[in-house]
This record gives sequence, C-alpha cells and structure tokens, in this order.
Amino acid sequence: MEYVWDKSLETGNSQIDAQHQQLFVALNRLVHTYQEGKGKDELKKSLDFLTDYTIKHFFDEEQLQQHYKYPDFENHKKYHDDFKKVVRNFSVELILKGASDSLMQDVQATIGGWLVTHIKGQDAKVAAYIRSHS
Ligand SMILES: [Fe+2]
Repeated sequence: MEYVWDKSLETGNSQIDAQHQQLFVALNRLVHTYQEGKGKDELKKSLDFLTDYTIKHFFDEEQLQQHYKYPDFENHKKYHDDFKKVVRNFSVELILKGASDSLMQDVQATIGGWLVTHIKGQDAKVAAYIRSHS
C-alpha cells in the first residue's frame, strides 16, 4: 500500500507540512526505484536521500520546538531518535542482504505507517502549540 500525503496529515504549520510532503515523495521514490528493478546502488541512493531528509526534517522540527519552548520536547526528540535508528537499520539490511520484496514491503509499511501515526499524533500537537504561542 502506497502512503501519500493528504489533507488529513496537514498540521497547519507550513514549514512542517512542506517537509512532510517531501518525506512521502522520497519514500515513494524509493519504492518505485525498487519496483522498476533498479540495482542496489540506485536503491541505496534513494534510501540515503530519505535518511538524510528525515534527519534534516527532524533537526528543523526540533529547532522549532526549542524556539517555542515546546513542553513535550524531550519525548518528541526521543521518538525522532528511535525512528532514525529504524531507518538506519533498513540501510544496513539493504547493504548486507540486498533488496527483496519482503524488505521493501517492510520499509514501506514501517516508514509510511510511522510517519502517519507520528504526524497525526505528535506533530499535530506541536503545530497547535506553536500556533497558540506565536
Ligand atoms: Fe516530529
């Protein structure tokens, strides 16, 4: 199942929303790269892009939270840090075992599912907090 950004994922913070949209684009680019039968190098490139963009996005979001003194910052940062490990493990698995239908389905479901849950549950609260404190 393909995860795409839609209005139900909108937090109302334009910077956060724009980056979330890019994350879904990057995830789907990775999945399509696999479906098109591209080699390991191309796949690794797509996964590296997704990883780097995830790290950049989390960094920006954490800066924003600190700027507004978001009270749940520590927990939120922990969610981000844990997820970074999950994404990194996928990269390691890709290098060690190569791509497979089951790995790519796992990547898609885990990353896509996490994004949806995190955005709706956590980032929506961040955006609402920023809105009421700016
Ligand atoms: Fe977040």
